[in-house]
Parts: sequence; structure tokens; C-alpha cells
Amino acid sequence: MLRRRWEREGISGALRRASNLVASINQRIALMGKLDGKVALITGAGAGIGRDSALAFAREGAAVAVVDVREVRAEQTAERVRAEGGNARAFTCDVRFLEQVERAVTGALSEFGRIDAVFNDAGTTRQGSVVSISLEDWDMVLDVNLRGTFNVSRAVLPHMIERGSGAIINMGSVDGLTGDPNMAAYNAAKAAIVNLSRSMAVDFGPRGIRTNCICPGVIGSPAILRMFTDERRAAMEAATPLRRIGRPSDIASIAVFLASEDSAYINGAAIVADGGLMAHTGIPA
Ligand SMILES: NC(=O)c1ccc[n+]([C@@H]2O[C@H](COP(=O)([O-])OP(=O)(O)OC[C@H]3O[C@@H](n4cnc5c(N)ncnc54)[C@H](O)[C@@H]3O)[C@@H](O)[C@H]2O)c1
Repeated sequence: MLRRRWEREGISGALRRASNLVASINQRIALMGKLDGKVALITGAGAGIGRDSALAFAREGAAVAVVDVREVRAEQTAERVRAEGGNARAFTCDVRFLEQVERAVTGALSEFGRIDAVFNDAGTTRQGSVVSISLEDWDMVLDVNLRGTFNVSRAVLPHMIERGSGAIINMGSVDGLTGDPNMAAYNAAKAAIVNLSRSMAVDFGPRGIRTNCICPGVIGSPAILRMFTDERRAAMEAATPLRRIGRPSDIASIAVFLASEDSAYINGAAIVADGGLMAHTGIPA
């Protein structure tokens, strides 16, 4: 039959069929997501950067465990992912408490069977210097940011170690690399997260698990935009070499990259995404 086809169509027909085959393989490759078949757990995914990340991970093919302390927010993000044709399930959990985190991780594992990537995005801040901040606010900021990152990593790592692979992405900040006025607890928590990420990279790299940290500058999540007057926003834009504040999607795309095979040799990095804010001394021209 092939011989008859060959006689009928000759070499030009064979070449045409081969080129059609190559085109259809290329088309299929183009349609593949960077995270096809993977499962991601994202904390703080009910709003802002975490929410955009849940959508970005799902658009690249990952199933997403949407974790947030606010039940309605978590449900809304999961619903939005599903409305776009993705796979997501919401888990209500306060990352400050290990038992709640373990429940969410167990729930995600029984829903999806595995966890390939974790984005420790949940965070909060309170203003104050070492003298003026209340002890409650100090504890709150350290507990949500630092203990939360520790709790989720501690709950997920045994599973990743057993499988010999995984990617953990921690949320730092430029405030973890510099001191911002009146932000003592936040500066301390984010600095600790930057170095905890290095520590995890060293401890678990040999087991096939990569840990990295993202340090955003000012990102216009709804929570941040609500706090900004027009003048404050204009001042932030003027201070940023790219002359704009960041979008949640600017950070979500980095998280996707760090969860994907595109970053297979990146471990222990603190990636600054701040439009060039940190490149400037602040000394006026
Ligand atoms: N927006 C920025 O300018 C900026 C800059 C640098 C770093 N960050 C960091 O990025 C992360 C997200 O920031 P965002 O602006 O999108 O914040 P956001 O306030 O818009 O969203 C944070 C989400 O985390 C959830 N959350 C808070 N406490 C929690 C807890 N204890 N357990 C579980 N979930 C909890 C909230 O309910 C919310 O849905 C934070 O870690 C923040 O510190 C933000």
C-alpha cells in the first residue's frame, strides 16, 4: 500500500507529508504548557500576587492547590482557574499554624496525588520601628511571613524528598535586602526568608529539590494600591528606573519560571524584580 502511494505521489508527495508531520509536531509543542502534568501549592493565593500566580501556573498546565486564610478568597481564585478550564481546589489555612498547614498539604496530596512546586507567597506587614511596633504586630509579621514559610516547607519537604524532586519558591522582598523606614518586623522577616531559602537550597539540593526566593520591589496588588495616594504612586514611579510600579503578573511569571524545567540549574537564588529600584543609590542627580 505504501509502495502504491509512493508510486502515485512520488518524492514531492513524500516531502509534503513529512513537512506536514513536522508542522503538526511543532504545533503540539507550542500548545504544551511549561508546567503540564505538575501540581503546585500556592499560599496567599486568594489575592494579589498569589492569585495571579495561581492563574499563571494553571495557564501553563499545572493543577493548583489554592491556599489562603480567607476561605471566600481561596474559593474565588479556584473558581476563576476552573472557569478558564484549569484544575484547582481551594484550601483554607492559616500558615502560622503547622497543624492547619499539614491538613492543607494532606488535602492537596489526596486531591492531586503529588506536589511538584510550592510558592510560599502568603505575607503581611505592620509598620513600626523596634521601639514603636507592638509585640503583637512583631509576632504577627514574623509568624505569617517567616514561620508560615517554614511551616509549609516543613510539611511538604518529606513528600518531595521521597520523590527526589521539587521546586520551592519563597517570597522575599527588596525589604529583605535593604532597611525601609518604620518596617522593622517586615525587614527582619523578609531578610530571614532570603537566607532561609539559601539554607534550604543547600540542605535539599542534593535530594533534587531546588529552593529559590523572589524579591519584588513595589507591586501594585489591590492591597498595595488601596494604600497609595496618587502622589505616593507618582513618587514611587519616579524613583523606579523603569518608571512604573510592578504588576502581580510580573512576579507570577518569575514564579512559573522557577517552578519549571527552564530554571533546572537555579538553586539558592534571590531574584530581584523591582524595575531597577535597587540599582539606584537614591542620591539625586
Ligand atoms: N505587593 C508588593 O509590593 C510586595 C512587594 C514585595 C513583597 N511582597 C510580598 O508578596 C506577597 C504577596 O503580596 P500581595 O501584595 O499580593 O499581598 P495581598 O495582601 O494582596 O495578598 C496576600 C494574601 O495572603 C493571604 N494571607 C495573609 N495572611 C495569611 C495567613 N496567615 N495564612 C494564609 N494566607 C494568608 C491574604 O488573605 C491574601 O489573600 C507577600 O508575602 C508580600 O510580603 C509584596
